[in-house]
Amino acid sequence: MAGGVGTPELAAAVSRAGGLGSLGAAYLSPAQIVQAMDAVRHLTDRPFAVNLFALQPVPQITPAQVEAACAELLPFHAALHLPSPSLPTHLQEDFEAQLEAVLAAPPAVFSFAFGRLESGHLRALKAAGVVVVGTATSVPEALTLETDGVDAVVAQGAAAGGHRGGWQHDELADTLELTRAVARAVSLPVIAAGGLMTREDVNAVLDAGASLAQCGTAFLLADEAGTSSAYRAALTRGGDTVLTRAFSGRTARGLRNAVSDAVAHPLPYPHQNALTRPLRSAGAQAGQADVLSLWAGEGFTLARPGPAAGLLAALAPEVSGHVGHPEK
Ligand SMILES: Cc1cc2nc3c(=O)[nH]c(=O)nc-3n(C[C@H](O)[C@H](O)[C@H](O)COP(=O)(O)O)c2cc1C
Repeated sequence: MAGGVGTPELAAAVSRAGGLGSLGAAYLSPAQIVQAMDAVRHLTDRPFAVNLFALQPVPQITPAQVEAACAELLPFHAALHLPSPSLPTHLQEDFEAQLEAVLAAPPAVFSFAFGRLESGHLRALKAAGVVVVGTATSVPEALTLETDGVDAVVAQGAAAGGHRGGWQHDELADTLELTRAVARAVSLPVIAAGGLMTREDVNAVLDAGASLAQCGTAFLLADEAGTSSAYRAALTRGGDTVLTRAFSGRTARGLRNAVSDAVAHPLPYPHQNALTRPLRSAGAQAGQADVLSLWAGEGFTLARPGPAAGLLAALAPEVSGHVGHPEK
């Protein structure tokens, strides 16, 4: 979970408790990635995953598009006494450099979303002994990832919190149905994701052919998560989730708020993500949930506070074999 929710402490706590903790590193600089991986290793010698957003072409945009997107954000900037919105020159971290940082001390698992890996990158990860996991929102994407040579595929259903992880054919499918279809189509291990909030949910996807379950929203209120207090309060208040491009320009599921309601002309990713960054940072400091990207899956009302180990124990199937044994 990139963007501050996922922390080294959360990843380490999940791995220590017998799951596979994942470090959402997409928005981290290479130096921050090295630091975050060190921090996980300081807390556990268990395997963990690192996640990045696959390299994607940066779309061309026009000044008129920028003007329209800025105009929609202006009232929010004014309310927080921020300078008028303007598109920064630094749009995103350099993927090659991020991957190099990951490869400098390879984790057990590398996962990615938003696209495909170049064959050279995939080869480098495999040569370093890393298990490589791609993200699909449909059967065609899963098949493409299998052909590319990944080791496992996440099947991300429509209920999932955060960004839609695919790049091509998002079917916004029910998690259970997608899991079943992907498991039938590919001969790789399938990791089901989306709306898995209880042990029963996890058992159901395992029965549908998944080898593992991937949970995000269930850990949003974990003690070790970096979820801000305004974000935690919004999750606890309830409400609806929406699929919105308002914050990043890519479709993501989060709690509906003033910005998701107001923005109708976002720039494409990564431009909108860079454009809204100052607003999101100022909103986090001011405790204003209405301007934050409050990523959450459809099952968010079932998210519980507490140590991540306890949350994992509540999700893990009782039959051993699906999760590892907790660290002594
Ligand atoms: C706050 C948040 C941040 C997320 N960030 C990432 C990310 O950086 N990379 C990624 O592949 N998936 C990300 N996801 C999606 C998860 O990998 C996963 O698909 C999703 O959480 C599963 O659905 P659930 O939220 O209903 O458990 C994020 C999800 C949330 C809730």
